[in-house]
Amino acid sequence: MRCFITGVAGFLGSHLADEALARGWTVLGVDNFFRGRKEHLPEHDEFTFVELDLCDEITHLSSLLSSFAPDIILHYGAINGTEYFYEQPWGVFETNIRATSNLLKALLKSGHTPQRVAYASSSEVYGEIPDTIPTTEDGITRLDIHSTRDSYASSKAIGDFYVKLFCEEHTIPWTILRIFNAYGTRMDASKYGQVIPEFIRKALDDTPFSIIGDGSQTRSFCHVDDHVRMVLDAVTHPDGIGVLNIGNDEEITIEQLAHVVLEAVNRPFEFKNLPLRANDPPRRAPDCSRIKSISGPCRVSLQEGIARCVEHELMQDE
Ligand SMILES: NC(=O)c1ccc[n+]([C@@H]2O[C@H](COP(=O)([O-])OP(=O)(O)OC[C@H]3O[C@@H](n4cnc5c(N)ncnc54)[C@H](O)[C@@H]3O)[C@@H](O)[C@H]2O)c1
Repeated sequence: MRCFITGVAGFLGSHLADEALARGWTVLGVDNFFRGRKEHLPEHDEFTFVELDLCDEITHLSSLLSSFAPDIILHYGAINGTEYFYEQPWGVFETNIRATSNLLKALLKSGHTPQRVAYASSSEVYGEIPDTIPTTEDGITRLDIHSTRDSYASSKAIGDFYVKLFCEEHTIPWTILRIFNAYGTRMDASKYGQVIPEFIRKALDDTPFSIIGDGSQTRSFCHVDDHVRMVLDAVTHPDGIGVLNIGNDEEITIEQLAHVVLEAVNRPFEFKNLPLRANDPPRRAPDCSRIKSISGPCRVSLQEGIARCVEHELMQDE
Protein backbone atom coordinates (compact mmCIF):
# COMPACT_ATOMS: atom_id res chain seq x y z
CA MET A 1 0.00 0.00 0.00
CA ARG A 2 1.31 3.45 -0.95
CA CYS A 3 0.22 6.21 1.42
CA PHE A 4 0.61 9.98 1.02
CA ILE A 5 0.34 11.94 4.29
CA THR A 6 0.07 15.73 4.60
CA GLY A 7 1.06 17.21 7.97
CA VAL A 8 3.37 14.21 8.48
CA ALA A 9 5.70 16.01 10.93
CA GLY A 10 2.75 16.85 13.21
CA PHE A 11 1.31 14.92 16.12
CA LEU A 12 -1.21 12.70 14.34
CA GLY A 13 0.52 12.68 10.93
CA SER A 14 3.79 11.33 12.35
CA HIS A 15 2.04 8.60 14.36
CA LEU A 16 0.03 7.63 11.26
CA ALA A 17 3.28 7.35 9.30
CA ASP A 18 4.75 5.08 12.02
CA GLU A 19 1.68 2.83 11.99
CA ALA A 20 1.54 2.69 8.17
CA LEU A 21 5.23 1.72 8.03
CA ALA A 22 4.65 -0.90 10.76
CA ARG A 23 1.95 -2.39 8.51
CA GLY A 24 4.51 -2.69 5.69
CA TRP A 25 3.23 0.29 3.68
CA THR A 26 5.35 2.79 1.76
CA VAL A 27 4.86 6.40 2.90
CA LEU A 28 5.54 9.78 1.31
CA GLY A 29 4.88 12.68 3.66
CA VAL A 30 4.89 16.46 3.34
CA ASP A 31 4.90 19.26 5.93
CA ASN A 32 5.97 22.90 6.15
CA PHE A 33 6.99 22.71 9.85
CA PHE A 34 4.42 25.28 10.92
CA ARG A 35 3.95 23.14 14.03
CA GLY A 36 5.50 19.85 12.93
CA ARG A 37 8.96 18.83 14.12
CA LYS A 38 11.80 17.16 12.20
CA GLU A 39 12.42 14.81 15.15
CA HIS A 40 8.89 13.36 14.72
CA LEU A 41 9.68 12.07 11.22
CA PRO A 42 10.25 8.30 10.92
CA GLU A 43 13.67 6.97 9.98
CA HIS A 44 12.72 4.11 7.69
CA ASP A 45 13.70 2.89 4.20
CA GLU A 46 10.07 3.01 3.06
CA PHE A 47 9.57 6.62 4.20
CA THR A 48 10.27 9.74 2.15
CA PHE A 49 9.80 13.30 3.37
CA VAL A 50 9.42 16.43 1.27
CA GLU A 51 9.30 19.86 2.91
CA LEU A 52 6.49 21.70 1.22
CA ASP A 53 3.82 24.30 1.98
CA LEU A 54 0.41 23.10 0.81
CA CYS A 55 -0.60 26.72 0.24
CA ASP A 56 2.14 27.31 -2.34
CA GLU A 57 1.74 26.91 -6.07
CA ILE A 58 0.72 23.31 -6.84
CA THR A 59 3.20 22.17 -9.53
CA HIS A 60 5.60 20.47 -7.09
CA LEU A 61 2.78 18.82 -5.14
CA SER A 62 1.16 17.60 -8.34
CA SER A 63 4.36 16.04 -9.67
CA LEU A 64 4.89 14.29 -6.30
CA LEU A 65 1.39 12.80 -6.49
CA SER A 66 1.92 11.78 -10.09
CA SER A 67 5.25 10.02 -9.47
CA PHE A 68 4.36 8.46 -6.10
CA ALA A 69 0.86 7.38 -7.25
CA PRO A 70 -0.57 6.82 -3.74
CA ASP A 71 -3.32 4.28 -3.05
CA ILE A 72 -4.38 6.29 -0.02
CA ILE A 73 -4.17 9.99 0.75
CA LEU A 74 -4.40 11.07 4.40
CA HIS A 75 -4.84 14.84 4.44
CA TYR A 76 -3.89 15.97 7.97
CA GLY A 77 -1.91 19.14 7.17
CA ALA A 78 -3.63 22.16 8.73
CA ILE A 79 -3.28 24.77 11.44
CA ASN A 80 -4.66 23.15 14.59
CA GLY A 81 -4.53 24.32 18.24
CA THR A 82 -7.40 26.15 19.98
CA GLU A 83 -5.38 29.26 20.88
CA TYR A 84 -4.66 29.86 17.18
CA PHE A 85 -8.41 29.84 16.39
CA TYR A 86 -8.78 32.92 18.60
CA GLU A 87 -5.42 34.63 17.95
CA GLN A 88 -5.08 34.10 14.19
CA PRO A 89 -8.61 33.43 12.93
CA TRP A 90 -7.96 34.58 9.37
CA GLY A 91 -4.69 32.64 9.12
CA VAL A 92 -6.38 29.45 10.32
CA PHE A 93 -9.36 29.87 7.98
CA GLU A 94 -7.37 30.81 4.89
CA THR A 95 -4.53 28.28 5.38
CA ASN A 96 -6.75 25.29 6.04
CA ILE A 97 -9.12 25.94 3.15
CA ARG A 98 -6.33 26.74 0.68
CA ALA A 99 -4.34 23.64 1.73
CA THR A 100 -7.30 21.38 1.00
CA SER A 101 -8.24 23.09 -2.25
CA ASN A 102 -4.62 22.99 -3.46
CA LEU A 103 -4.22 19.31 -2.59
CA LEU A 104 -7.30 18.38 -4.62
CA LYS A 105 -6.30 20.59 -7.56
CA ALA A 106 -2.83 19.05 -7.50
CA LEU A 107 -4.37 15.58 -7.49
CA LEU A 108 -6.48 16.45 -10.52
CA LYS A 109 -3.45 17.88 -12.32
CA SER A 110 -1.42 14.75 -11.52
CA GLY A 111 -3.87 12.56 -13.45
CA HIS A 112 -3.64 9.93 -10.70
CA THR A 113 -6.70 8.35 -9.06
CA PRO A 114 -6.16 6.99 -5.52
CA GLN A 115 -8.31 4.27 -3.95
CA ARG A 116 -9.24 6.57 -1.05
CA VAL A 117 -8.94 10.20 0.01
CA ALA A 118 -9.28 10.66 3.77
CA TYR A 119 -9.55 14.09 5.32
CA ALA A 120 -8.89 15.09 8.94
CA SER A 121 -12.08 16.96 9.79
CA SER A 122 -13.06 17.77 13.36
CA SER A 123 -15.76 17.35 16.00
CA GLU A 124 -15.78 21.18 16.06
CA VAL A 125 -18.00 21.17 12.94
CA TYR A 126 -20.89 19.75 15.02
CA GLY A 127 -20.99 23.15 16.71
CA GLU A 128 -21.03 24.54 20.22
CA ILE A 129 -24.26 22.68 21.05
CA PRO A 130 -24.59 19.61 18.79
CA ASP A 131 -27.99 18.12 17.87
CA THR A 132 -27.42 15.09 20.07
CA ILE A 133 -24.79 13.87 22.54
CA PRO A 134 -23.32 11.35 21.91
CA THR A 135 -23.13 12.91 18.44
CA THR A 136 -23.72 10.70 15.41
CA GLU A 137 -22.25 11.25 11.94
CA ASP A 138 -25.57 12.53 10.61
CA GLY A 139 -25.47 15.44 13.09
CA ILE A 140 -25.57 18.61 11.02
CA THR A 141 -22.71 21.07 10.61
CA ARG A 142 -23.29 24.14 12.81
CA LEU A 143 -21.25 27.30 12.25
CA ASP A 144 -21.61 30.68 13.94
CA ILE A 145 -20.38 33.80 12.17
CA HIS A 146 -20.27 35.54 15.58
CA SER A 147 -17.87 32.95 17.02
CA THR A 148 -14.15 33.66 16.42
CA ARG A 149 -13.47 30.05 17.42
CA ASP A 150 -15.36 28.98 14.29
CA SER A 151 -12.48 30.25 12.12
CA TYR A 152 -11.28 26.66 12.51
CA ALA A 153 -14.62 24.82 12.44
CA SER A 154 -15.62 26.68 9.26
CA SER A 155 -12.28 25.87 7.58
CA LYS A 156 -12.78 22.19 8.45
CA ALA A 157 -16.42 22.20 7.30
CA ILE A 158 -15.53 23.82 3.96
CA GLY A 159 -12.80 21.17 3.63
CA ASP A 160 -15.49 18.51 4.18
CA PHE A 161 -17.41 19.89 1.20
CA TYR A 162 -14.27 20.22 -0.95
CA VAL A 163 -13.35 16.58 -0.34
CA LYS A 164 -16.84 15.14 -0.76
CA LEU A 165 -17.75 17.12 -3.88
CA PHE A 166 -14.36 16.67 -5.58
CA CYS A 167 -14.24 12.93 -4.88
CA GLU A 168 -17.81 12.34 -6.00
CA GLU A 169 -17.16 14.27 -9.23
CA HIS A 170 -14.04 12.15 -9.90
CA THR A 171 -15.40 8.84 -8.58
CA ILE A 172 -12.87 8.52 -5.74
CA PRO A 173 -14.00 6.85 -2.48
CA TRP A 174 -13.70 9.40 0.35
CA THR A 175 -13.64 9.38 4.15
CA ILE A 176 -14.27 12.43 6.27
CA LEU A 177 -12.73 11.69 9.66
CA ARG A 178 -14.59 13.62 12.36
CA ILE A 179 -11.81 13.55 14.94
CA PHE A 180 -12.74 13.97 18.63
CA ASN A 181 -9.82 15.03 20.90
CA ALA A 182 -6.89 12.72 20.26
CA TYR A 183 -3.92 12.76 22.65
CA GLY A 184 -0.51 11.15 23.07
CA THR A 185 3.19 11.83 22.77
CA ARG A 186 4.55 14.51 20.37
CA MET A 187 1.70 16.94 21.07
CA ASP A 188 2.52 20.61 21.40
CA ALA A 189 2.64 21.40 25.14
CA SER A 190 2.71 25.19 24.66
CA LYS A 191 -0.37 27.40 25.06
CA TYR A 192 -1.08 26.62 21.37
CA GLY A 193 -1.35 22.91 22.13
CA GLN A 194 -4.21 20.82 23.49
CA VAL A 195 -5.40 20.35 27.04
CA ILE A 196 -3.69 17.05 27.97
CA PRO A 197 -0.06 17.99 27.12
CA GLU A 198 -0.66 21.41 28.67
CA PHE A 199 -1.99 19.82 31.90
CA ILE A 200 0.90 17.35 32.04
CA ARG A 201 3.48 20.09 31.51
CA LYS A 202 1.88 22.30 34.17
CA ALA A 203 1.58 19.37 36.58
CA LEU A 204 5.25 18.43 36.15
CA ASP A 205 6.58 21.98 36.33
CA ASP A 206 6.53 23.78 39.64
CA THR A 207 3.92 26.28 38.43
CA PRO A 208 0.33 26.93 39.55
CA PHE A 209 -2.07 24.48 37.91
CA SER A 210 -5.00 26.12 36.11
CA ILE A 211 -8.18 25.00 34.39
CA ILE A 212 -9.91 27.08 31.72
CA GLY A 213 -13.53 27.48 32.85
CA ASP A 214 -15.06 25.83 35.93
CA GLY A 215 -13.97 22.36 34.81
CA SER A 216 -17.51 21.08 34.19
CA GLN A 217 -17.10 21.05 30.39
CA THR A 218 -16.85 17.50 29.05
CA ARG A 219 -14.69 15.96 26.33
CA SER A 220 -13.85 12.43 25.18
CA PHE A 221 -10.17 11.61 24.76
CA CYS A 222 -8.81 9.02 22.34
CA HIS A 223 -5.24 7.77 22.67
CA VAL A 224 -3.16 8.17 19.51
CA ASP A 225 -2.51 4.40 19.26
CA ASP A 226 -6.27 3.87 19.00
CA HIS A 227 -6.61 6.80 16.59
CA VAL A 228 -4.06 5.51 14.08
CA ARG A 229 -5.35 1.94 14.20
CA MET A 230 -8.93 3.07 13.64
CA VAL A 231 -8.00 5.41 10.79
CA LEU A 232 -5.85 2.92 8.87
CA ASP A 233 -8.49 0.20 9.38
CA ALA A 234 -11.21 2.57 8.15
CA VAL A 235 -9.42 3.79 5.02
CA THR A 236 -8.80 0.23 3.88
CA HIS A 237 -12.35 -0.96 4.60
CA PRO A 238 -15.38 -0.44 2.33
CA ASP A 239 -17.52 0.41 5.39
CA GLY A 240 -15.13 3.28 6.15
CA ILE A 241 -16.42 5.36 3.23
CA GLY A 242 -18.35 8.54 4.10
CA VAL A 243 -18.41 10.58 7.30
CA LEU A 244 -16.88 8.74 10.25
CA ASN A 245 -16.47 9.76 13.89
CA ILE A 246 -13.02 8.83 15.22
CA GLY A 247 -12.67 8.94 18.99
CA ASN A 248 -13.50 7.42 22.32
CA ASP A 249 -17.09 7.40 23.57
CA GLU A 250 -16.12 7.81 27.25
CA GLU A 251 -17.11 11.33 28.25
CA ILE A 252 -15.36 13.01 31.20
CA THR A 253 -15.25 16.51 32.67
CA ILE A 254 -12.13 18.63 32.42
CA GLU A 255 -11.95 18.60 36.24
CA GLN A 256 -11.96 14.76 36.21
CA LEU A 257 -9.23 14.90 33.58
CA ALA A 258 -7.19 17.19 35.84
CA HIS A 259 -7.58 14.59 38.64
CA VAL A 260 -6.23 11.83 36.37
CA VAL A 261 -3.22 13.96 35.34
CA LEU A 262 -2.42 15.16 38.87
CA GLU A 263 -2.70 11.60 40.21
CA ALA A 264 -0.35 10.37 37.49
CA VAL A 265 2.32 12.88 38.57
CA ASN A 266 1.57 12.56 42.30
CA ARG A 267 0.70 16.20 42.77
CA PRO A 268 -2.03 17.42 45.19
CA PHE A 269 -5.33 18.39 43.63
CA GLU A 270 -5.06 22.19 43.73
CA PHE A 271 -5.79 24.46 40.84
CA LYS A 272 -7.16 27.87 39.94
CA ASN A 273 -9.86 28.50 37.38
CA LEU A 274 -9.26 30.81 34.42
CA PRO A 275 -12.05 32.51 32.43
CA LEU A 276 -13.77 30.25 29.90
CA ARG A 277 -13.02 30.95 26.22
CA ALA A 278 -15.95 32.28 24.19
CA ASN A 279 -18.13 29.61 22.53
CA ASP A 280 -16.33 26.72 24.25
CA PRO A 281 -18.64 23.68 23.78
CA PRO A 282 -20.01 22.66 27.22
CA ARG A 283 -20.21 18.96 26.22
CA ARG A 284 -18.59 16.89 23.51
CA ALA A 285 -18.82 13.13 23.00
CA PRO A 286 -18.99 11.01 19.85
CA ASP A 287 -21.22 8.13 18.96
CA CYS A 288 -18.54 5.63 17.87
CA SER A 289 -20.79 2.79 16.67
CA ARG A 290 -19.60 2.99 13.06
CA ILE A 291 -15.86 2.99 13.72
CA LYS A 292 -16.25 0.30 16.42
CA SER A 293 -17.92 -1.99 13.88
CA ILE A 294 -14.86 -1.58 11.62
CA SER A 295 -11.98 -1.46 14.10
CA GLY A 296 -13.33 -2.40 17.54
CA PRO A 297 -13.39 -0.23 20.68
CA CYS A 298 -10.57 1.89 22.11
CA ARG A 299 -7.95 -0.25 23.81
CA VAL A 300 -5.95 2.34 25.78
CA SER A 301 -7.67 3.64 28.93
CA LEU A 302 -7.27 7.32 29.82
CA GLN A 303 -5.27 6.40 32.95
CA GLU A 304 -2.88 4.22 30.95
CA GLY A 305 -2.57 6.74 28.11
CA ILE A 306 -1.82 9.61 30.50
CA ALA A 307 0.70 7.49 32.41
CA ARG A 308 2.49 6.78 29.10
CA CYS A 309 2.57 10.51 28.26
CA VAL A 310 3.91 11.40 31.72
CA GLU A 311 6.61 8.73 31.46
CA HIS A 312 7.61 10.08 28.04
CA GLU A 313 7.82 13.66 29.39
CA LEU A 314 9.94 12.57 32.34
CA MET A 315 12.34 10.77 29.99
CA GLN A 316 12.59 13.92 27.84
CA ASP A 317 13.40 15.97 30.95
CA GLU A 318 16.30 13.69 31.97
N1 LIG B 1 -5.40 16.37 17.49
C1 LIG B 1 -6.73 16.35 17.54
O1 LIG B 1 -7.32 15.98 18.57
C2 LIG B 1 -7.54 16.73 16.33
C3 LIG B 1 -8.94 16.88 16.48
C4 LIG B 1 -9.69 17.22 15.36
C5 LIG B 1 -9.08 17.39 14.12
N2 LIG B 1 -7.72 17.26 14.00
C6 LIG B 1 -7.10 17.48 12.68
O2 LIG B 1 -6.09 16.52 12.48
C7 LIG B 1 -4.99 17.11 11.75
C8 LIG B 1 -3.71 16.92 12.51
O3 LIG B 1 -3.84 17.53 13.79
P1 LIG B 1 -2.65 17.47 14.85
O4 LIG B 1 -3.27 17.54 16.19
O5 LIG B 1 -1.72 16.39 14.51
O6 LIG B 1 -1.99 18.90 14.60
P2 LIG B 1 -0.46 19.27 14.27
O7 LIG B 1 -0.41 20.75 14.27
O8 LIG B 1 0.45 18.53 15.16
O9 LIG B 1 -0.29 18.69 12.78
C9 LIG B 1 -0.63 19.44 11.64
C10 LIG B 1 0.60 19.48 10.74
O10 LIG B 1 0.26 20.21 9.55
C11 LIG B 1 1.38 21.02 9.22
N3 LIG B 1 0.93 22.14 8.39
C12 LIG B 1 0.22 23.22 8.77
N4 LIG B 1 0.04 24.04 7.73
C13 LIG B 1 0.64 23.46 6.67
C14 LIG B 1 0.83 23.83 5.31
N5 LIG B 1 0.33 24.99 4.83
N6 LIG B 1 1.53 23.03 4.48
C15 LIG B 1 2.06 21.86 4.96
N7 LIG B 1 1.92 21.44 6.23
C16 LIG B 1 1.22 22.24 7.08
C17 LIG B 1 1.95 21.45 10.56
O11 LIG B 1 3.30 21.86 10.48
C18 LIG B 1 1.77 20.20 11.40
O12 LIG B 1 2.92 19.37 11.34
C19 LIG B 1 -5.37 18.57 11.52
O13 LIG B 1 -5.94 18.69 10.24
C20 LIG B 1 -6.41 18.83 12.59
O14 LIG B 1 -7.31 19.85 12.20
C21 LIG B 1 -6.94 16.93 15.08
